[in-house]
Amino acid sequence: MPLNIIIGTQWGDEGKGRITDLLAEQVNVVARYSGGDNAGHTLTIQGEIFKLHLIPSGIIHPGVLCLIGTGVVINPKVLLHEMEGLRQRGIDVSPARLKICANAHLITPAHIALDKANELGRGREAIGTTLRGIGPAYTDKANRSGLRAGLLAEPEALAEAIYAHIEEKNRLLERIYEQPGLDAAAAAAEYAAYAQQLAPYLTNGPILLDEALQQGQTILAEGAQGTLLDINHGTYPFVTSSSPTSSGALVGLGVGPRVVGQVLGVAKAFTSRVGSGPFPSELEGDEAVRLRGTGSNPWDEYGTTTGRPRRVGWLDLVILNHAQRINGLTELALTKLDILSGLEQIPVCVGYELDGESIHYFPTDLQQLARCRPIYQILPGWSEDVTHARTLDDLPENAQQYINFISTQTGLPIRLVSVGPNRSQVINFSEP
Ligand code: IMP
Repeated sequence: MPLNIIIGTQWGDEGKGRITDLLAEQVNVVARYSGGDNAGHTLTIQGEIFKLHLIPSGIIHPGVLCLIGTGVVINPKVLLHEMEGLRQRGIDVSPARLKICANAHLITPAHIALDKANELGRGREAIGTTLRGIGPAYTDKANRSGLRAGLLAEPEALAEAIYAHIEEKNRLLERIYEQPGLDAAAAAAEYAAYAQQLAPYLTNGPILLDEALQQGQTILAEGAQGTLLDINHGTYPFVTSSSPTSSGALVGLGVGPRVVGQVLGVAKAFTSRVGSGPFPSELEGDEAVRLRGTGSNPWDEYGTTTGRPRRVGWLDLVILNHAQRINGLTELALTKLDILSGLEQIPVCVGYELDGESIHYFPTDLQQLARCRPIYQILPGWSEDVTHARTLDDLPENAQQYINFISTQTGLPIRLVSVGPNRSQVINFSEP
C-alpha cells in the first residue's frame, strides 16, 4: 500500500526519527502530520549527529520530498534555523525538497509566552510541557483564531494579523497572567521577514499527496510524540495538544483510510517519559540511571528538545497493547535493545494490579492509573554486547527470547530491532 504510518507506541522518544530515516530510503515522500518543534528526532549517520525538530527525518535522503503537513504547528524561526543548519551540512532544503502545507498553523512568540505563563500558573500541577507554545497554538486553531501558514504568502496581511494577535494575547498575558506583554510591532516585522523566506515552500498538502499517490509513489507518514501523549487516547491532561496516532495521521495530512498500508509502531525496549503524570513501571535510583545513562552520550535518555532527564522504567506491554488497539498497528520496531545488555534479569510489565484485582487494559482514568501497580514477568537477561548483531541469529538466545516474548504478547510481527545509535546498527527482519 502506498501510505505507511510510523507511530510512537509509548510517551514519545521511542526512536521514530531513526526508523523513519531507515525506511525513507524506499519512499518518495516523508510527511510530518502532528506536533511541532516539541518533537526532537536524533539521527546518527556515519558518526554525524542530526537533531531535527520540525523537518521530516527523510530530508537526509536526497530525492525524498519532505512535507510539513496540515496538522503541524510551525515556529518559523525554529524552522529557518533548522533549515540553515542542514544547509551548512550540505543538505538540500530548497523548495524542491521541502514543502509546507498552507493549512498548517503558525506558532508565535505570544504562544510561547502563554505556554510559560500557563505552566507557571499551574504550579505543582504543571504538565511539564516543552514550553514551545504548542498548546496555545492548537488552542487558537480549535478556537478558529489561529494563523495559518498560508499567510506567509502575504507578508503585509501576515504582519497585520500578527500585530493584532500579539495585542490580543498581551491583554491575556498582562491582565490574567500578570506577565509582561510583547512588542507587537517588532513581532509583526519579524514575521514579515520570515514570510519572505518561507513563502516559496508553501503547498496544498492534500493535493500534493493525492497526486503522489496517483503516480504510484510511496508516502511515509512520520509520527512525532507517542500514543500516550495523544489528546484523546493518552494520559490526559498530561498529554500534548494533538493526535500523534494513526487516525491523527489521516486528519493531519488530509488522506483517507483506504490508502493506508502498514502502521508500524515504534517501541523502545524499555519505557521512558518526559513531563508529569503516572508511569506504572517507573524506576528510581540506580536502576533508573542504568537505563537512562548519565547524559555523556547523545543517545542517553535526556530530552532532545528540552535536555531534561527522562523518567525511565521497564517495558510495559499493557501500554503496547493499548497502542496496538488505538492505532491498528500491523508491526513493531523495537529500539535500544543494546541498552538492556548486561542485566541479569529483565522484568516486563504484563498487567496491573488495581484495587486488588489484576487488569490487562490501560485505564483512561488517571486516578485509577496512579493506583495501578505493575505485574511483572521476569525474563532472563544476557551479558553479551549486541551492537554488532545484524540478524536474529547474531543475538544471544535470551535476547531472541525477549523479542519473541514481545511479539507473542502483542500479536505483532517485529520488523526492525535497533542495537545501537548508528544507521547500520539494525536488524531488519523484512530483508531476506
Ligand atoms: P507540549 O507538547 O510541549 O505541550 O508538552 C506536553 C507533554 O508532552 C509534556 O509532558 C512533554 O514532555 C510531552 N512531549 C511533547 N513532545 C514530546 C516529544 O517529542 N517527546 C517526548 N515527550 C514530549
